[in-house]
Amino acid sequence: MGVYDRALEIIDLEVKAKTVSGTAELLNIKELILDWGEIVGIVGESGSGKSILALTIMGLLPKNVFVTKGKILYKGEDLLKKDEKFMREKIRGNEITMIFQDPMASLNPVFTVKNQLSSVIKVKNPKLNKNEIYKKAIEMLDLVKLSDPEMTMNKYPHELSGGMRQRVLIAMALSAQAKILISDEATRALDVTIQLGIIKLIQELGEKFNLSTLFISSNMALIASVCKKISVLYSGEVIEKGNTNDILKEARHVYTKSFLASLPTAGKKGTVLPILEGNYPSILDKPKNCIFSDRCPIVTDECRDKKPTLSAISDSHSVSCFKNLDSDKTDKGA
Ligand SMILES: Nc1ncnc2c1ncn2[C@@H]1O[C@H](COP(=O)(O)OP(=O)(O)O)[C@@H](O)[C@H]1O
Ligand SMILES: [Mg+2]
Repeated sequence: MGVYDRALEIIDLEVKAKTVSGTAELLNIKELILDWGEIVGIVGESGSGKSILALTIMGLLPKNVFVTKGKILYKGEDLLKKDEKFMREKIRGNEITMIFQDPMASLNPVFTVKNQLSSVIKVKNPKLNKNEIYKKAIEMLDLVKLSDPEMTMNKYPHELSGGMRQRVLIAMALSAQAKILISDEATRALDVTIQLGIIKLIQELGEKFNLSTLFISSNMALIASVCKKISVLYSGEVIEKGNTNDILKEARHVYTKSFLASLPTAGKKGTVLPILEGNYPSILDKPKNCIFSDRCPIVTDECRDKKPTLSAISDSHSVSCFKNLDSDKTDKGA
């Protein structure tokens, strides 16, 4: 994999949907990069386009949703140019695996863990005999720290807890020798301890196997605790991105700051996002000016008039805002 600098490179991606009320603009992402072995976070409110982004990468968009522009480079090849057969046979569940909130949807209810895991292992290791496949399957369940692999092997998905199912899915991804994991709010329904266990596992496996993870969540605290880099998604666009430290300590966009203000700190319990006045932009009638201008407390004429682009304020940190390119202004402004 050394030849390819990047695990995944999304460039100038535009995704739209045909609806009865017209064309909706779901995504407009200039650049999103995932390096090998790294965990990149995508954080955004419900409806910001997180799942559409995951589904676009997987080639699993609903029928009325389509890519109108852009590239998704994986190992130097544009996944958007690949046909369904290639995506099904070579990419999905092989090179790139997605885990989401309901692991039942990815597991076959009528087969045991042993059955499902064995078939993945067999495809990747056609020379192994039955015993060797069994041994390998146990090894995989061990790797994802399922406490009793032998017992888990004979279970049906519905007999496992949510956390165990996620671990089985991760074991399947590893068995398929996945290079990229897309976690779309995968741990959301789990209780905190189990959630942290799964996250720790993803981090460890990233290091061990150079597995890259796109970690998607609406929970900023979670994202910040897991990811090295964060992109903040607002109405299908990245309005700020940076290393986690940049975002936590030097957030520039008012929206990112409002997200951070919702985090629990010493003496203050976490809250939901503080109410910002104005409306979230309609995807059917996306503003041509700054998409945040309607809600922004430091809006100027320029913002009502023009659309800012995501601009670098340091090597690692970019923001899409006319006002927030220097921190003095930000501190007074917000
Ligand atoms: N099939 C579809 N047709 C039209 N609009 C859609 C479709 N699927 C999702 N959307 C819209 O796209 C936006 C992003 O949705 P989604 O990616 O599911 O958000 P998130 O995962 O961040 O909650 C939302 O406004 C949603 O209503
Ligand atoms: Mg979603």
